[in-house]
Amino acid sequence: MLDPTSSSDVFRVRGGAVLRGTVRLSGAKNSALKLMAAGLLCDGAVRLTEVPRIADVPVMADVLRGLGVRVDLDLDARSCVVDATEPPSWHAPRDAVTRIRASISVLGPLVARVRRARIAPPGGDRIGSRPLDMHLRGLIAMGAEVHEGDGEVEVHAPDLHGAQITLDFPSVGATENLLMAATLASGTTLIENAAREPEIQDLCRMLEAMGAPIHGIGTPTLEIEGVDELHPVDWETCPDRIEAGTYAMAAAATGGDVVIERVRAADLTLPLLKLRTAGVVVEEGADTLRVKADDLEAVDVVTLPYPGFPTDLQAQLMVLLTQAAGTSRCTENVFDSRFSFVEQLRGMGADIEVDGHHALIRGPSPLKGATLAGSDVRTGAASTMAGLVASGETIVRDVHHVDRGYADFVPRLQALGADIERVPASDVDG
Ligand code: UD1
Repeated sequence: MLDPTSSSDVFRVRGGAVLRGTVRLSGAKNSALKLMAAGLLCDGAVRLTEVPRIADVPVMADVLRGLGVRVDLDLDARSCVVDATEPPSWHAPRDAVTRIRASISVLGPLVARVRRARIAPPGGDRIGSRPLDMHLRGLIAMGAEVHEGDGEVEVHAPDLHGAQITLDFPSVGATENLLMAATLASGTTLIENAAREPEIQDLCRMLEAMGAPIHGIGTPTLEIEGVDELHPVDWETCPDRIEAGTYAMAAAATGGDVVIERVRAADLTLPLLKLRTAGVVVEEGADTLRVKADDLEAVDVVTLPYPGFPTDLQAQLMVLLTQAAGTSRCTENVFDSRFSFVEQLRGMGADIEVDGHHALIRGPSPLKGATLAGSDVRTGAASTMAGLVASGETIVRDVHHVDRGYADFVPRLQALGADIERVPASDVDG
């Protein structure tokens, strides 16, 4: 069932239910996968907890196993042990690498630990062009030689050293790879215009606990002092803020009342501000959020690197805004193909006009059930949300995308009162 590239299942959603109840967040997808890769950096067992039950995690385990690393993954217990006591090999397994985007995050650790890496272009969501130029330019600045051939990138860095690197854009993946490479480089590395997403802060803090001195965590300037070796650590994955935002928006779109547990509201400052501006009541507890909504109002949103509004919540917000009174404007600045979902929402009755990377959403519009195809993790979740709001039945296809990023999505929505089931595609095709 947890296969990130294929699932013949669909979600059948009957709209109209109001979400009520409690949902506890999983560990963050975009943290756990990188923490697993960071296990390559030390000679010993890194023990991760709160690892989410999502399909990308076993694939990342396969990437690491293909490098000769011992991985004990227990998704039911939400734990993963990565033991690279034996130095990893340097050629990442193509099959596993090309299935998920996060596989690229073994590049920095391999260059750090064995001073050499060969890797195919990673897979992942088709949400626009996703080049590796910043990752590679940073490694070159640190003394690496990079060759591209046979569809793979090969990096040699016998004299990996610290460098001053200014990123063109605060790329999450490039920041993580350069950060991890820098931990075992000789000397100090300065990464300017670094990304500072909470998941990167989680990675930085785990690397610190492994013995890497890092200054400027959570700021756009990271300074990493290279050390000779890192040591094993036990680490709890930070909660998934995108999952939090998705459940909050689903609750609000259905006029519901949902408590989200194990949440860090500080990681969601802008999404919560936008929800409140849209008329949603958000009550913050110590590690809980209560989200209640009735009448929704239009709001303008611009996606940007953290602490900006996350691109990974843009599609879900768009569904919410179809139910808000007035005209909302949504601008996508991070990826170049993230409005492909709009056509499907329009087919359900949404009034959305796209001009380049801007979308105007006029609401509220009653949505009608339809058959939708999710093209990435987030549009899969947003399609499901649209189904919850729409009248009649909605079928969400390609749910393997949802499995890649949302743990137990259907049972958790059912527990909140949603009328949703996961059935084989043959049930709705036949
Ligand atoms: C990560 C997340 C993804 C999230 C994104 C932005 C993972 C597995 N995925 O993706 O969910 O949507 O951050 O928050 O963590 N770019 C370049 N050259 C590079 C690297 C990136 O031009 O070398 C561009 C990309 O094409 C994109 C932008 O920078 O337009 C942002 O990409 P980046 O922040 O690197 O995202 P990912 O790490 O791929």
